[in-house]
Amino acid sequence: MTRILSGIKPTGKPHLGNYFGMMRPAIEWQERGEAFYFIADYHALTTVRDPKALRDYSRGVALDFLSCGLDPAKAVLFRQSDVPQVCELAWILSTITPMPMLENCHAFKDHLAKGNVPNHGLFAYPVLMAADILIYDSDVVPVGRDQKQHVEVTRDLAQKMNSLYGEIFKIPEPSILPALATIPGLDGQKMSKSYNNTIELFPEEKALRKKVMSIVTDSTPVETPKDPENSAIVNLYKLFASEADVEKMEADFRAGGTGYGDFKKRLFETIWAYFEPMRKRRAEIEADPAYIDEVLTQGAVRANELANQVLTRVRKAVGLGS
Ligand code: TRP
Repeated sequence: MTRILSGIKPTGKPHLGNYFGMMRPAIEWQERGEAFYFIADYHALTTVRDPKALRDYSRGVALDFLSCGLDPAKAVLFRQSDVPQVCELAWILSTITPMPMLENCHAFKDHLAKGNVPNHGLFAYPVLMAADILIYDSDVVPVGRDQKQHVEVTRDLAQKMNSLYGEIFKIPEPSILPALATIPGLDGQKMSKSYNNTIELFPEEKALRKKVMSIVTDSTPVETPKDPENSAIVNLYKLFASEADVEKMEADFRAGGTGYGDFKKRLFETIWAYFEPMRKRRAEIEADPAYIDEVLTQGAVRANELANQVLTRVRKAVGLGS
């Protein structure tokens, strides 16, 4: 049976970029094998400094994931830090990780380019991520395009360990959905918390409307034809609307006579309707606070079983313990 693994960092409330890039593909994958999904709180610790916020975000990610259709009967959902063995594996992997390999990672280079001073955790992030993947003998890792390089690092480290110590690790494959290359944010750049241009999955109606109305557009007058090609409005609409509705919006852009405000209203209505069933499910889950704890506790038990098996194998192979 194919084992699927992915993680999501609880650095804030999940947004449309998280949903289309990771959560929705993960929910689809739960039908196709044995899925393990975790809330990457050790990873979030490289940037989140407020303990209450970190706990709230972790719970919030679990709530949103379950609301969107993650089914605990099909997929194992757990907190990364409920399997601390992963840190031991990360250490072992770090001893064979060439520094230049990490210096070469885009996420790290971007961080440097922005003038930040990286902490060691951030530098070593791909090693912990490799441990996340390898400790569950994962076959497939559904991730957004931005994480592809990290999965390649994982494969390299697994291969190196296997050539040093014998066949201890499965070599995982990334799965990247091409259509999801980039989800545009409010300013047209990639949607990301670090650009402060996100649309959350479950805001209040008013707040969502306000967000959508704030999408940046040019100053083309109402009557003038508009270019649908690079419009963030159209590109977001494509994620939610039927093909026919997208074609209609594109035609209306080209025809002129409709202002950006009207297109944004159309987009808002479509997003709001799309999440309606998930909002219902979310309200049910919120009415039973013990439910999330139960799911995460059971998930942790199952994840621990697997992690212990793999870590025992690794410790034995490298010469730790007796
Ligand atoms: N790095 C991923 C992100 O920022 C989250 C993550 C951590 C992850 N460990 C993982 C994803 C292991 C897949 C597999 O989105």
